[in-house]
Amino acid sequence: MSDAAPVVTIDGPVGSGKGTISTRLAARLGWHFLDSGALYRLVALGALRAGLGEDAGDEALADIARGLDCDFSFDGVETRIWLSGEEVTRELRSEPVSRSASRVAAVPAVREALVARQRAFRRPPGLVGDGRDLGTVIFPDAAVKLFLTASTEARAERRYKQLKEKGESVKLSRLFRDLEARDERDMNRAVAPLVPAEDAILIDSTELEINEVVDEAYRIVKEKLPDI
Ligand code: DC
Repeated sequence: MSDAAPVVTIDGPVGSGKGTISTRLAARLGWHFLDSGALYRLVALGALRAGLGEDAGDEALADIARGLDCDFSFDGVETRIWLSGEEVTRELRSEPVSRSASRVAAVPAVREALVARQRAFRRPPGLVGDGRDLGTVIFPDAAVKLFLTASTEARAERRYKQLKEKGESVKLSRLFRDLEARDERDMNRAVAPLVPAEDAILIDSTELEINEVVDEAYRIVKEKLPDI
């Protein structure tokens, strides 16, 4: 065992609820929180702002990743994010940034450039991190590794409700197809594909409410780390 602060990783596919669940778990534990997807989104936004288009080369994207000037603040409820001194919390969630982030995240040199930045979030009293490869690549020595899943139908329906509440007009069938395509890309990419770590605990949230998943995750953490 290392003396480093304990880490809980929560990996899983789009729409599995990891964002909400890991935020609430971090708040309940009083720990730091890493939204690792935001780093890929920041690289995507930085590239868009630098005028790099769809045909941007891997090295140009890796340069942006290495030079990212960003700040995160987590108040137990939400994470606010700044890029070069300007708050970009909402912009990071926009459709063009989401689309580009998925492409950026498949570039090995970008992933490499973001490893140390992600590890720097590990500080006492502990860290909860949410992503795709946190338990496999970034924090292989994490004390607790959770892998969240849910059926494609359940994930598409959750996303549909979220977007409807925001007043966006969407089709459930389209969301379902998009999710299937993103899963396929995430699970089959050459570098750091989305797979559970061998020692990960799987939680299927298809039939569970968010609070039930948070309770289950908290119970697992307390069982593994009784002294926290
Ligand atoms: O979790 P998210 O939707 O904010 O992630 C944005 C993109 O980054 C998404 O395409 C998946 C990718 N990603 C990744 O490859 N590895 C991570 N640890 C986190 C996100």
